[in-house]
Amino acid sequence: MKRSFSGIQPTGDIHIGNYLGAIKTWAEMLDEYDCFFCIVDLHAMTVPYEPSAMAQRTLDAVAVNMACGLDPARCTIFVQSQVQEHAELCWILDTVTPMGSLARMTQFKQKSEQIGGDVKVGLFNYPVLMTADIALYKGEVIPVGDDQVQHLELAREIIRKFNNTFGPVFPECQPLLSKAPRGMGLDGVNKMSKSLGNHIGVTEPPESVRQKLATAVTDPARVKRTDPGEPTKCNLYHLHTYFSSPDEITWVEEGCRSAGIGCLDCKKVLAENMIAVLTPIRERYEQLQADPDVVRKVVAEGADRARSIAADVMAEVKAAAGLYSG
Ligand code: TYM
Repeated sequence: MKRSFSGIQPTGDIHIGNYLGAIKTWAEMLDEYDCFFCIVDLHAMTVPYEPSAMAQRTLDAVAVNMACGLDPARCTIFVQSQVQEHAELCWILDTVTPMGSLARMTQFKQKSEQIGGDVKVGLFNYPVLMTADIALYKGEVIPVGDDQVQHLELAREIIRKFNNTFGPVFPECQPLLSKAPRGMGLDGVNKMSKSLGNHIGVTEPPESVRQKLATAVTDPARVKRTDPGEPTKCNLYHLHTYFSSPDEITWVEEGCRSAGIGCLDCKKVLAENMIAVLTPIRERYEQLQADPDVVRKVVAEGADRARSIAADVMAEVKAAAGLYSG
């Protein structure tokens, strides 16, 4: 079985962009790959955060992912900071990573701009830690949303540089994109993102889903109900294609183009379909929250399995790099 690796930050609400772009794909891969899923708390430290909330958010992120279908009996779920080799390998990969390649990263430029002046080395180094995550488990197939594709191209470059310098330790890795690689936010302008507040969380209660959709931006051409629109320009139409039935999608397409239906009608149907998908996720999440020992046991077992592989790969890396082994 090929090994798959992916990660998610424990930075608050896990949203339907994460779900459609990444988590749903992860849950569908469990029988085909040896899957490793990591809650990347060290990555989450690269922007200001509340230390007293981090540990709980990390456990919540595990619970949400389990509720979305990551069955711990068929994959390894663990917390990045519990396996010290991630930071160790990151340092070794730093020694082969060109500064210029990191400086070109779109996410680094965007986040630095958002932060203003005081940009830290950790944010700059973020993609090297990602590379270490993948390389430490010799990950080959990396399911992500398309905002991470540039980071994965750089990961491939760093892995190639390591192999060329020290010998062929790591396999090549490939991104695996879902059918919804870039979920747009409810503002209709930006990708759905926790930090922009333009999202619907996967554990959001029905009333909140309805409210958020009711105020979401649609095709700007439809100012009045009688104005015809173009569904492909409507942010919510794309969500219909994931949550609604083929008949409903045709109803939306025809109704939007002929102005036969209003955006409100369209939103109501979407809201109920979305709620039908999210309700079992929320219910499973609430069950797990009521029994936190289950989640703790999953990450403890995950850390054990991750550590044993990480230790072997790290020994191989150090030997290849010629470090003293005693
Ligand atoms: P994070 O926590 O930002 O996002 C987790 C996953 O969700 C995807 N995603 C989206 N997909 C579609 N539409 C959206 N609006 C959207 N927003 C987020 C992301 O692409 C990602 O797949 N750096 C990674 C975590 C990471 C990682 C790794 C991933 C750390 N190490 C190693 C793969 C391999 C991140 O920030 O995820």
